[in-house]
Formats: sequence, structure tokens, C-alpha cells
Amino acid sequence: MSKITTRTLKKYKDNNEKFSMLTAYDYSTAKYLDQAGIDVILIGDSLAMTALGYENTNQVGVEEMSIFTKAVAKGANNAMVVTDMPFMSYTIDIPSALTNIGNMVKNGANAVKLEGCNDYIEKLIECCVNMGVPVMGHIGFTPQSQNVIGGHIIQGKTEDAANELLKQAKKLEKAGAFSIVLEMVPENVAKSITENISIPTISCGAGRYCDGFVMVCDDLFGKFDDFTPKFARKYGNMKELITKCATNYISDIKNGSYPNENEVY
Ligand code: KIV
Repeated sequence: MSKITTRTLKKYKDNNEKFSMLTAYDYSTAKYLDQAGIDVILIGDSLAMTALGYENTNQVGVEEMSIFTKAVAKGANNAMVVTDMPFMSYTIDIPSALTNIGNMVKNGANAVKLEGCNDYIEKLIECCVNMGVPVMGHIGFTPQSQNVIGGHIIQGKTEDAANELLKQAKKLEKAGAFSIVLEMVPENVAKSITENISIPTISCGAGRYCDGFVMVCDDLFGKFDDFTPKFARKYGNMKELITKCATNYISDIKNGSYPNENEVY
């Protein structure tokens, strides 16, 4: 299998073939997702909650995202590696944004994800692409703006709001984004956006008609249980597995069966 690139994702869309994206935050998880054939691995700023136990994504910084990016990039041979640029790391001005984005690529990211759409973000996307960095857009519910939005609220519910989302998607495409995550958007709105732009859309709680689909790996694995969104499907129960392994280990120590004669030097 060869490395997934922006061209591969575009081909998927053109051929009407769905693609998969999952978050990962460490080397071995990235390696297994890659071996399973995942197309895109996102070092999502959701790691603020899932890996670092913070309250929200806005508490994670560039240095932390860089460390997780390095680890994931080492595990991903074929999958495209995309890093979420964290809150305030790309919105102050273009020069500081490009420095932070460039460093993420030096740490192993193949592309970055930027939330929102306005004149500044459009300009920044153009600069990134000129600098050689592909950009994944992210509209609809944008977690980094949750304090302005006023909570985890479905976006694009009214006709005006849906039209505005479509306008934003077109602007991101024109600025040079290679794909767009649509988060918490009604399925019919995501469908219309998908049909009206030529770059791939990625559903994050945006229904069935996008070109690609993304989930937080800890939700998929059944590992993170502080909060699970409606669109997340649990494919395993890692919480139970981890608890069971730890309980058995503890009891083996207590009853003297660990370590045994084969586990000593
Ligand atoms: O941070 C994240 O994990 C994300 C996705 C789920 C799209 O942005």
C-alpha cells in the first residue's frame, strides 16, 4: 500500500469511494490503525480531554500537540497524518501561525486542520498551501469556539445557517483546503455541501452522505467514558479490558502467582 495523500482522498471522492479517519495520540495506536488500513490519522486536539484529562480542547498547546504528533507520525507508514492546530496557535497573525504550522510539519504532520472560516482563515490557508502545507478545514460546530457558540450545539439548522455553511465550504475550497470536516451538522445540509464542492467532506456527526468519516479513537475503542457523543459508535470495551487486566494483575501479586518461575532472571 502506498502513502495516502491529498490526491488519494480526492480520487476517493471522484470515484464515490468512502474513506476512514480516526484520531490517535500515541505510537502503537497509530501503528495498529495504520496496519488496519485507516486512511487518515488525526492528532486531534480532543487529546486535551482523552489523553491529558483537561476540561476542553482550548487548554492544549503547541508543545503538547507537537509531542503527540511526533509519536503518531512514527507509527503511521501509509495513513496520512493530520495535526489539529490548537486554540490560539494560528489566529494571532499569519507569521506566528506559519511558524507554528511549519513546526508541526517538521514534527511529522503531512497536513494540518484549522477550525472556522473567515477572511483571515482563508488568507492563512492560501499561505499554507503556498508554503507547501495542505490544510483540512473544519466548520459546523467548531470546539475551539465553544465559549462563543454557547455549548455543544448542532449547527446549520435553519435555512440561513445551512446556506452560510455552504458558502463557507465553498470559500475554504477556493482558498485551497483539500478537505473539510463537518461537525454536528444535519445530514441533509452535509449532503448538499458534499454535492456542491469538489473537495472531500468528512462527517463528524454530519450524517451518512459525506465522503469520509471521523471518530475519536477512544470513543471507538470504548476507552473514554466521561462523555460520548450521539454519533460515536463503540466497537470495543477497552475500559473494561484495562480494568480487568489491572484487577487480575493486582490479585496475582496479592496471591503470589506473579511473577512465576518463568518471569524471573
Ligand atoms: O479533535 C478532534 O478529535 C477532532 C475531530 C473529532 C474532528 O477535531
